Amino acid sequence: MIYGIIIILAYLLGSIPSGLIVGKAFYGVDIREHGSGNLGGTNTFRTLGIKAGMIVTIADILKGTLAAALPFFFGSDMHPLMAGVFAVVGHMYPLFAGFRGGKAVATSGGVLLAYVPLMFLIILGVFFLSLYITKYVSLSSIMAAIVSIIYALIIWDIPLIIVVSILGFFVIYRHRANIKRIRNKTEPKIKWLG
Ligand code: G3P
Repeated sequence: MIYGIIIILAYLLGSIPSGLIVGKAFYGVDIREHGSGNLGGTNTFRTLGIKAGMIVTIADILKGTLAAALPFFFGSDMHPLMAGVFAVVGHMYPLFAGFRGGKAVATSGGVLLAYVPLMFLIILGVFFLSLYITKYVSLSSIMAAIVSIIYALIIWDIPLIIVVSILGFFVIYRHRANIKRIRNKTEPKIKWLG
């Protein structure tokens, strides 16, 4: 029973469409009609600028962190990573935004921040290093997801290995169009770093 409540709450938390709320409330814009069409921090940066992008990215990270903390708040023995996965599902397929959400990156990061903060910092470093070198946010997100799996294998935490594999699959699956564009050399590169 308590597991069910936590799963539903985690999904609903993940479903809060930060990008849509910030875009509509402050700019009168649905960011899904601009740029890559993605409801995420990167497309908010691209469409609405650095301030809105930062707010949406932080809000999306916090959704994952809070969801992973739900079992603790409820005094449940449910694994925090399990709750986190449902927040990421909510972020990708949000109930409150017609099931058209983001690409799992920031919210997955938030889940890892709650459970393995050091790992979060390391993959954040990998993300920015890759971004500096390649200028592709999408490729850097995928790199971060792959490194998170390697990290989990190195520290040999079984629930973590399972969950980062699931999250890594989500990230790669949701970046299908980006991968195609990278191969065709039509994926936009960021201009504001390096
Ligand atoms: O977190 C999403 C990012 O990796 C790619 O976003 O808008 O370029 O598809 P976008």
